[in-house]
Amino acid sequence: MCGIIGYIGSRQATPILIGGLSKLEYRGYDSAGVSVWNEGASRVVRCRGKLSGLVEKLTKEPAPGTMGIGHTRWATHGRPSDENSHPHKVGPISVIHNGIIENHLALRQELSAAGAKFSSETDTEIFAHLVAHALTAGAPDLTTAVRRSLLKVRGSYAFVVMSDKEPGTLVAAKNSSPLVVGLGDGENYVASDVTAILSETRRVIFVEEGEMVVVKRDGVTLMDFEGKVRTREPKTITWSAVQAEKGGFKHYMLKEIHEQPRAVADTLVGRIDLEHDDVSLDGIELDVSKIKRVIFIACGTSYHASMVGEFLVEGLARIPVDVDFASEFRYRDPIVGPGDLVVAVSQSGETLDTMEAIREAKKKGAQVFAISNVVEASIPRLADHAFYTHAGPEIGVASTKAFTTQLIGIALLAIHLGRRTGSLSKERARELLAELIALPNKMRDIVESGAQIQAIARRYGNATGFLFLGRGSQFPIALEGALKLKEISYIHAEGYAAGEMKHGPIALIDEHLPVVVLVPRGPSYEKTVSNLAEVRARQGKVIAIATRGDNEIGGHSDDVIVIPDTALELQPILTVLPLQMLSYYVADFKGTDIDQPRNLAKSVTVE
Ligand code: G6P
Repeated sequence: MCGIIGYIGSRQATPILIGGLSKLEYRGYDSAGVSVWNEGASRVVRCRGKLSGLVEKLTKEPAPGTMGIGHTRWATHGRPSDENSHPHKVGPISVIHNGIIENHLALRQELSAAGAKFSSETDTEIFAHLVAHALTAGAPDLTTAVRRSLLKVRGSYAFVVMSDKEPGTLVAAKNSSPLVVGLGDGENYVASDVTAILSETRRVIFVEEGEMVVVKRDGVTLMDFEGKVRTREPKTITWSAVQAEKGGFKHYMLKEIHEQPRAVADTLVGRIDLEHDDVSLDGIELDVSKIKRVIFIACGTSYHASMVGEFLVEGLARIPVDVDFASEFRYRDPIVGPGDLVVAVSQSGETLDTMEAIREAKKKGAQVFAISNVVEASIPRLADHAFYTHAGPEIGVASTKAFTTQLIGIALLAIHLGRRTGSLSKERARELLAELIALPNKMRDIVESGAQIQAIARRYGNATGFLFLGRGSQFPIALEGALKLKEISYIHAEGYAAGEMKHGPIALIDEHLPVVVLVPRGPSYEKTVSNLAEVRARQGKVIAIATRGDNEIGGHSDDVIVIPDTALELQPILTVLPLQMLSYYVADFKGTDIDQPRNLAKSVTVE
């Protein structure tokens, strides 16, 4: 996830690009850059770090000119560095990109064999080479060269391309990543989202999947990848700048809940190896003969993802698993050593307790595998192996898309281990991979049905407490549901293993206590239904999260929220979504500060 902007007109491009990028920093902030055309050549200025670093650099190395492109990056391929910052320039071609090129390794090999020299580790630079190559191979113009290059690329992208040799033209293309064109008077814009251009124009055209757009000073032309021209009426944006930043959603948290299908799809890109019924952990190869035990360490929401990891790794790889809070692990002189694979899970990659726990584990000889959403953060740098989720920056303090993509990362790790211990057959792996690929659409199905959950939230929004129950891998989801609710609505909530309810929490149940029960299809279904009946017998209000097609559950519950069916191992990735939404709508009903709940921080770097 990155922010992109392009400008063409008669004003100086750089201030417009920087103004746009300052609105896009929430999409990525590990580096930024511009390429601005002036009198026959473009000048690229790029800088690792926040946009302010680029602004400072531009005061020393100004980039004058009336056509340019700008980018703010959230690293996926290649660490944050000056060289990996966009725009990437190859010959006369400058490119900015948001998304992931899935077949980047094969294309890089192909281009290297043809003599291309790469100056970055990014997937994006490949596209600049492809376009430059298409032009030398005879493409008559930039638009044709981009079109021919697009045919070779698989993945999700929004590209904007500029050529030193064709001043007056920006060419952009979209597949899965957002792209919008802004219309001015004698000047036009292109951007990843309207926020970037809202101060300049409110007349926009949203580019659709599989479309290209040629942007000139005096007009824009939309076309498909075959070059067939398309027409679309511009829209006038009435959102405020703040609304636009949230993509029209009321809060970042709601936007991020809705981004999960995309975030999960991006985290799977390039990691599924259907040819070998296996996964690719970006080149990491773990030697299972040396792994006697897996220990997950994490905090907060990442700890709940780790608890699901216990079920995944033990279930698929049959390796014993321990799960510990990082803050507990590091202080109890843990018994850990060379036979242990320590999996450190952290969305920010900066949590101090997790970092110190890694140091402790490494000191005692364990190897450490980190799962992080931030490339080159302290935790992945400290670990022996770093695996990145591609959720993009998460702004809402309550973690949503970072959590579901962590679950994907952990599922991929479990499949990797299972295939190597031999406990996961090719056939079962194939089924799981197919289910993983199908997840984004199933997630979309859930996040787009918010009205029912909103109505339930309104009904129970005045409750003073909630109980969440689940068995097996639904127990950590019950904990996560309770955590989400208390974080943002300040209602006391407890997550409990459903079977444990009778040992204490049952005393709390009366007609005022809403109880959310996770009861998807599976081996513990009947047992959980019995717990649910026990709640109802005591007048508790039951909200069941169940599998679509379950005709029985309605008879035992006050409300049923259905989720699509999936493999048992992957159910937590779906059941957590209604809980995130329920918390969100309860908090919205109560009017709390959802994106910045009191006392909480996104990145906790104190002990
Ligand atoms: C904070 C955040 C949580 C997060 C926890 C662990 O409390 O508010 O959302 O789960 O830290 O952070 P990490 O970055 O290590 O996942």
